[in-house]
Amino acid sequence: MTGLLCITIISVALAGGAYSFVTPPPFTLFTVKVVADLGANVTMPCMLMSKDHSLSDAGVRVKWTKVADDEALNEDVILSMGVHKKTYGNFENRVFLEEKGDHEDASLTILDVSMADTGKYLCEITNGMTDTVQEVTLEVLGDFTAGVVFPYHSEVGRYNLDYDTAVLACLAQGAVVASPEQLYEAWEAGLDWCNAGWLNDGSVQYPITNPRAPCGGSNNGPGLRNYGQMDKNKTYDVYCYTAAPKGSFYWLTQPEHLTFDEAVQACLDDGAEIAMVSHIFAAWKLEGYDRCDAGWLADGSVRYPISRPRKNCSPTEAAVRTVGYPDKTQKSYGVYCFKSQQ
Ligand SMILES: *[C@@H]1O[C@H](CO)[C@@H](O)[C@H](O)[C@H]1NC(C)=O
Ligand SMILES: *[C@@H]1O[C@H](CO)[C@@H](O)[C@H](O)[C@H]1NC(C)=O
Repeated sequence: MTGLLCITIISVALAGGAYSFVTPPPFTLFTVKVVADLGANVTMPCMLMSKDHSLSDAGVRVKWTKVADDEALNEDVILSMGVHKKTYGNFENRVFLEEKGDHEDASLTILDVSMADTGKYLCEITNGMTDTVQEVTLEVLGDFTAGVVFPYHSEVGRYNLDYDTAVLACLAQGAVVASPEQLYEAWEAGLDWCNAGWLNDGSVQYPITNPRAPCGGSNNGPGLRNYGQMDKNKTYDVYCYTAAPKGSFYWLTQPEHLTFDEAVQACLDDGAEIAMVSHIFAAWKLEGYDRCDAGWLADGSVRYPISRPRKNCSPTEAAVRTVGYPDKTQKSYGVYCFKSQQ
């Protein structure tokens, strides 16, 4: 849905010392709002205002920027001059200019939008003095009715949770033990995990989408492998479930790597708390959160969420990657924080 909310004409100071107000001004600022569903491909409009030249003319430059409250944190999205195009950072290889029709269209398409793409964008078309500046606000709608199932084992290692400890382990991650129905839905959505874990009916199961010998046999089809009701003193992993948490999960921008204790403090200093394992899975699954930086979490594990598989960052699958439970005094990681909604 695209709606023109307001049009603002801004006055401009021309270079050369003298101020001169031009009528009509060559700079025109539009604010357009675009709303998209999580995971959709979205196009944000930007049209060349001047009819004197076309985007294919030599020297015409199109630049899209994601604007932050603090200008120093603005992110480059794409820069285009003639056939030369460069995409940046988080936008690399998932944005392109439409460039349809008569070379006046500098609209930007973003593939597979995530909640983190929400925000204000600026399109600037520059050709000497004649500029088009267009502001577009993008709102991405997540699915806040959904939840997420995630596998969990403690710092002690795999298969170390009896049923009662498993219940506490999920609670400590801001979650509860998943039901068989929730695990089934997660399996349908692609969860594949080769570790037997407790469910809230006292059964021990695990979800396999890609059958293989060490995970219940390669002759069996995809499905839930079910050990049935088990002695609650036996130890396995656990499947936890969380609904969408109320608040925001984020990577704390920090100049240095941190020990675990420093990570806990850094989030507190930012008016938040170190994120729990349920928060990273919810952000990854329900918000499309993607960040190729390993960060501490509240249970002492180090993980990073990848929604867009790529070289060096979970190349084959979208997943929350686990580095493990490293030495807490090691200064090798950043931190993910969680700020509860007031
Ligand atoms: C988004 O575009 C890509 C590439 O053109 C396509 O493969 C994908 O199916 C599209 N996604 C949606 C949700 O339309
Ligand atoms: C489980 O452990 C508790 C405490 O050690 C014990 O009292 C109980 O009999 C055990 N249950 C089974 C089924 O072995």
